[in-house]
Amino acid sequence: MSAVVQVPLASDRARAAADTIVARCDELADVTETPGRITRVYLSPEHARANETVGAWMRDAGLRTWQDAAGNLHGCAAGATPDAPVLLLGSHLDTVVDAGRYDGVVGVLMAVEVVARLVQDHGALPFALEVIAFSDEEGTRFGKALLGSSAVAGVWDESWWDLQDTHGTTLRSAFESFGLDPGRIAEAAVAPASLVGYLEAHIEQGPYLEQADQALGVVTSIASARRFTVQAVGEARHAGGTPYDRRHDALLAAAEAALAVERICRAEQHIGTVGTMTVEPGAVNVVPGLATFAVDLRGQFDEGRDRVWDAVADAFREIGERRGVDVTPTEVHRAPAVFCAPRLMHAVRAGIVATGEPAPLELFSRAGHDAMSLGLVTDVAMLFLRNPDGISHHPDEFVSAADVALGLDALATAVERLADEHLLADGADA
Ligand code: GLV
Ligand code: MN
Ligand code: MN
Repeated sequence: MSAVVQVPLASDRARAAADTIVARCDELADVTETPGRITRVYLSPEHARANETVGAWMRDAGLRTWQDAAGNLHGCAAGATPDAPVLLLGSHLDTVVDAGRYDGVVGVLMAVEVVARLVQDHGALPFALEVIAFSDEEGTRFGKALLGSSAVAGVWDESWWDLQDTHGTTLRSAFESFGLDPGRIAEAAVAPASLVGYLEAHIEQGPYLEQADQALGVVTSIASARRFTVQAVGEARHAGGTPYDRRHDALLAAAEAALAVERICRAEQHIGTVGTMTVEPGAVNVVPGLATFAVDLRGQFDEGRDRVWDAVADAFREIGERRGVDVTPTEVHRAPAVFCAPRLMHAVRAGIVATGEPAPLELFSRAGHDAMSLGLVTDVAMLFLRNPDGISHHPDEFVSAADVALGLDALATAVERLADEHLLADGADA
């Protein structure tokens, strides 16, 4: 007798809603600075258009909307009482350069759908439900990631105002051009005491759910990260006339440094990437005098990440000394590892189990998420959706409507579970 394998099955209404969400991801893919490829960065005209488009969808879903002092879009359904606490849900609308269409966006649209469904089913919950479409998770424009959610978490650093994009525009002046007042940034911060927590749905951006043949997973923690801009300053000289022993080739120092990042990270089971490199003066017949590159480093724990960075920095020094090139890293982003709250993880797991998956996979997120900032001020948890081939930050990024539908059912059940617990806790206090 063959065993009957139960396949998780989404509700009819989740399947209909998932089709709409996928179609809306396609629609937002057209909100881009470069037709034909998706690039939507912080404080750009496309950021404003995405907020307008998603804001209209939020209002259609019955949410009250506003844009905060950091350009994040909010949509809220009130709780049962005026002073009810708030459960935050969300993800981001900005993208990397030449991005996929689901990273961040699908989590925002799922949150809107889940809030609309819960209000339809239950009226007001014991807590308000607030969706936040974060404005800058990737850090594509200014190098520093999580700007939008850092403002919401109230951990804005005044030094960030001087960050510059590749055109030399400062963050401060980009704020002003977008119509935001830098002097009011503190108004974007939430009051931690008013929060129940933060839930985020996101595509996995890795292969592990697909390998396990599961649509949904529970995130246990999010990688700790550091990012650096590194300048290698050598000497530009004639490519024909300069013998090797007189060269201080900035590009070769940078190339060796990039290989050192890979070698050290591989040996230490960390992940390090050199994702950009520019060379000056940039001529075929000139030895490069300046190379500028970016290092992105991630690990499961802050201590390991810092130990690995110290080894990388030592290697950079040795390479620079040997080649007579001054290799100087400047840190542009640092985010501690965030551990998801067991209380919220249980709710997410219960939501997945209710879809028919008896043993949901638990995974550590190597990718960064807005939940990292929110984790500084409240409990957080994440629901991951299967990402075929694990490809993300690439136009081929994909999530199926069937998996989005299961995710909607799971997320809605998770929030219902939290509402039940909240009522029970209130009853016990009374
Ligand atoms: C964001 O997607 C990141 O992990 O860099
Ligand atoms: Mn991303
Ligand atoms: Mn993302």
